[in-house]
Amino acid sequence: MNKISSVDPNKVPKVKLYNGAEIPVVGLGTFGSDNYDNETIAEAVRTAVRSGYRHIDCAAIYGNEKEIGRVLKELFDEGTVTRDELWITSKVWNDSHGRVIAAAEQSLADLGLESLDLYLVHWPFPNHHAKGVTVDSRDPHAMPYIHENYMKVWREMEALVDAGKVRNIGTSNMTRPKMELLLRDCRIKPVVNEMEMHPHFQQPELFNYLKEIGIAAIGFCPVGSPNRPERDKTPEDTVPIEDPVIAAIAEKHGVHPAVVCIKWAAQNGQIPIPFSVKPEKFMSNLRCVTEDPLSAEEMAAIKKLDRRNRFIKGQVFTWEGATWEDLWDEDGKIKGA
Ligand SMILES: NC(=O)c1ccc[n+]([C@@H]2O[C@H](COP(=O)([O-])OP(=O)(O)OC[C@H]3O[C@@H](n4cnc5c(N)ncnc54)[C@H](OP(=O)(O)O)[C@@H]3O)[C@@H](O)[C@H]2O)c1
Repeated sequence: MNKISSVDPNKVPKVKLYNGAEIPVVGLGTFGSDNYDNETIAEAVRTAVRSGYRHIDCAAIYGNEKEIGRVLKELFDEGTVTRDELWITSKVWNDSHGRVIAAAEQSLADLGLESLDLYLVHWPFPNHHAKGVTVDSRDPHAMPYIHENYMKVWREMEALVDAGKVRNIGTSNMTRPKMELLLRDCRIKPVVNEMEMHPHFQQPELFNYLKEIGIAAIGFCPVGSPNRPERDKTPEDTVPIEDPVIAAIAEKHGVHPAVVCIKWAAQNGQIPIPFSVKPEKFMSNLRCVTEDPLSAEEMAAIKKLDRRNRFIKGQVFTWEGATWEDLWDEDGKIKGA
């Protein structure tokens, strides 16, 4: 195996959240898209933390928090990092909206931690699916967004903060109209929304709205998730890392096009969480935010590449009679409620 050169974690910029907490601008994704087993992903976490990563994006549904927890314990025991030096995110899955505190406690037990740095509501719907299903699979009990129910989830999220089990809370896959309702009714404002963002799906309206109201954006699928599950692929989908503009910028900087996507995201004020279990790939994703930034012209050229091409459409979360577009409130109205 090639020797992996480390990145000094102090050189990795941090994004300051509205409450003063600071999150490292690049995190390691841990969803293996059904392609990698739990041990392989946990070993990637080990190498990543030993080599300078300080931010790990976990979730109960990824099914690997126990394996990651075992690795974290070993990293603490060997003295590689202290708990306070790491930023660990987890998420409550859609099947646990009625038992958020119990779900958080399970993630804490699996990860072997006393508190999480960030806990997210993974999706604003209680609709779920079994592992590895096809795009046609539907939860027969699937429901549209019901704000009253979401607020019950959020009250439990707030209680987790009060109890000191979670330092920060946030949302994921939210839209502007849903966020407006949450802001109206919450006691603790979310610090972030985790959402799909890459050069072909930049979400400028939602991103700018979040910026205005002081909520940061964690960007998932920052490379365009080229190996995502088949259920998340449609014939119209494009491939950001094959975009000729991205490829030309990559060539100029002597890096892979994926690295250009990460540089763009970080320089644009997002917090990208790229996934890879391959050390040369995940370390290039971290190192790239510490050196050789994109020029203003390159940033402007990437801004023009937006194709409004959402990859994670969420078909499997739709309720009877709904299409995946109904999940995203593009016309500013919440559907089905
Ligand atoms: N909140 C949500 O609803 C949500 C949804 C989706 C994802 N996420 C989170 O976001 C993370 C990232 O999303 P994702 O994994 O779907 O997409 P991604 O990070 O855009 O893409 C990952 C793929 O890109 C390749 N890649 C990464 N870095 C590379 C590099 N430097 N050079 C070449 N190829 C590179 C990897 O290839 P190899 O396989 O060859 O390593 C991997 O298959 C997930 O792991 C998860 O933590 C959250």
